[in-house]
Amino acid sequence: MKRFLTGFIAAAAMTLLSAAFFNARADEGMWLPSLISQRIGDMREKGFRLSAEDIYSINEASLKDAVVLFGRGCTGELISDEGLLLTNHHCGYGQIQKHSSVEHDYLKDGFWAMSRNEELPNEGLTVSFLERMEDVTDAVLKGYSDSMDESQRDSLVKANSAALTAEATSAGKGLRATVEALYYGNQYFLFLYREYSDVRLVGAPPSSIGKFGGDTDNWMWPRHTGDFSIFRIYAGKDNNPAEYSPDNVPYRPKKWFRISLDGVREGDFTFVYGFPGRTQEYIMSEGVRYISEVSDPHKIALRTLRLDIQKKYMASSQKVRIQYSSKNASTANAWKKWQGEMRGIRKMNTVASKKAYEHEFARWAEGTEYEGLTDRIDSLYRLMEPFSYAADYYSETAYQIEVSRFAMQYMKAKDKASLASGFFKDYFLPVDKEIFISMMKEFDRNMPEDSRPDYFRHSLERFGSIEVWADSLFGTSAFADSLRLASCADSTDLLQNDPALEFGETFSRWYSEDIKPELTRLGREITLCYRDYMRGLMEFDRDRAFYPDANLTLRVAYGSVQGYEPADGVMYVPVSTLEGIMQKDNPEIFDYNIPQRLRDIYSSKDYGQWTVTDINGNVTVPVCFIATNHTSGGNSGSPVINADGNLIGINFDRVWEGTMSDIVFDPDLCRNISLDIRYVLFVIDRIAGAGHLIEEMDFAGESM
Ligand code: ARG
Ligand code: GLU
Repeated sequence: MKRFLTGFIAAAAMTLLSAAFFNARADEGMWLPSLISQRIGDMREKGFRLSAEDIYSINEASLKDAVVLFGRGCTGELISDEGLLLTNHHCGYGQIQKHSSVEHDYLKDGFWAMSRNEELPNEGLTVSFLERMEDVTDAVLKGYSDSMDESQRDSLVKANSAALTAEATSAGKGLRATVEALYYGNQYFLFLYREYSDVRLVGAPPSSIGKFGGDTDNWMWPRHTGDFSIFRIYAGKDNNPAEYSPDNVPYRPKKWFRISLDGVREGDFTFVYGFPGRTQEYIMSEGVRYISEVSDPHKIALRTLRLDIQKKYMASSQKVRIQYSSKNASTANAWKKWQGEMRGIRKMNTVASKKAYEHEFARWAEGTEYEGLTDRIDSLYRLMEPFSYAADYYSETAYQIEVSRFAMQYMKAKDKASLASGFFKDYFLPVDKEIFISMMKEFDRNMPEDSRPDYFRHSLERFGSIEVWADSLFGTSAFADSLRLASCADSTDLLQNDPALEFGETFSRWYSEDIKPELTRLGREITLCYRDYMRGLMEFDRDRAFYPDANLTLRVAYGSVQGYEPADGVMYVPVSTLEGIMQKDNPEIFDYNIPQRLRDIYSSKDYGQWTVTDINGNVTVPVCFIATNHTSGGNSGSPVINADGNLIGINFDRVWEGTMSDIVFDPDLCRNISLDIRYVLFVIDRIAGAGHLIEEMDFAGESM
């Protein structure tokens, strides 16, 4: 009976497999640029007209030299020979927000430097160019022997990597190197970057364009967000990285993009070059189950509460709206993504199809070194679940209390005064306090009795209720009030016993003593198993094209412009236009209230040269488009490139129905969303009146 059943499951599994996995390979994949020659045949078959060397070369200037890691989580691209750089509005959001106040509200009104000396410096912002990447597996594992356990192996890898990065960065200014594990440590690559730290804000549209549609439209198609901002990289006179100085000069890049005004049609080849942050494409069914059935739902519920509190206060005061705009947007962003991801995983039946695939693997693995591996991973996941759950709860509740995070940073900070002024600029106590009450109630409701910190129990006993606890903490903490803090800034004793600090430190200690060690230990064991599983998969599933999970290193994704069917009977076309902005325009709703100037331009049809004729024969302005490129968080701001290597758009999002692509890619539903470069130029030219920036750019068809 058992045999029969296994056979039956195997047959069912194969059907599932061919649907869910083999087909899924269409445009799936984030490829390493230095190995792109392995994909170039496929890329060219799909329409690309350049060579692997044009994409990545260490001898000649190639497209990679026009792409940067922007900050530590976005991508940007060079668009002029004077260091002009394009990224998303939401990537520059923190900087735009920092320069904003009620008097100069650049978020609301936009910002345009009309000359070089009006460009605004941004302390702490860097951009990194990839100089080269190289396979260093042998050097990283030098001295390894099979008798080592995972933590010994970790130490060896760390030491060897440190030696490699030290060597790589020894010659030259601003060099930074990292060694990254690929395929769970089956392979290691060294990435050498040149990092520039004088990066100035040049322009940003008003949020009513750059964040048009707000969190309602976020992660959605059809989309009409002009999500871009412009910066300029400055360098020392020798063109090398230099700390900010008024004497620095615009950086002269090795390579910058030419812009194509040809636009896109359904089926056109597109290619996205950028820094996707994190994917888990090979994670097993138990891991997927935890994400989609436990972690995502809990984190979503906690964030719903937090967002509602923020929104309530933001709606009542313009000052609070500015203070919390950036925090609110980033909280909302993952919150909405998780909802799409959870739905996508359930819709694709990923847990069951992965389970079936694992069964197949396990059968194949019988008698090999991989025998029993999937069972082992399953049971490790079960052991880990309570710890993962506690970590999720910690990071979404206690860790989110602003005042105690500030207290902990303050005690360690060198420049305490500037940390404090930055904090209080964007702090509104009633928001934090209400969130504290709400989060501690959830903690009380959902954390099992035996895994709570003693401090939490004692505080409840001592104060009798979470409200009274909050009154006491926020009413007496020096960190909750700038004047109070100023008056006891010199009294380290007093500060050391502060209740906000105590709250932060106690929870943090609970996490690092009771949760993290087990989480790390089991995590290591799982990684170790995944390393074998990954190797096993490559032997088992020989036709599958494997690519390493994203890890914020430079990748190439390619595909084509394509609509999709989000629901039965509904078909989306792949391009959006100004007509849609006008349809959504609504002065009554904050996120849909477009600038009057845009309404005027629409009435006069004075679009300049940035137009397209839509399917109804109307002359209008193109705004966004979608394509099948496999992207992830971090790809924001990535150049979207056509078959000739010219810039046609800026990647900024994915469609909601496809956000599970970090775990499982469905070619029917997964689409990246890009801003059409012609809309960017339209906004610069017609709305901002900053045509001098367009003068700096090069266009396809012109000679450089
Ligand atoms: N969803 C995009 C990304 O993941 C854009 C986020 C910014 N926009 C917003 N409305 N929160 O980063
Ligand atoms: N908006 C995302 C980012 O900031 C890109 C969208 C995605 O996750 O694909 O990187």
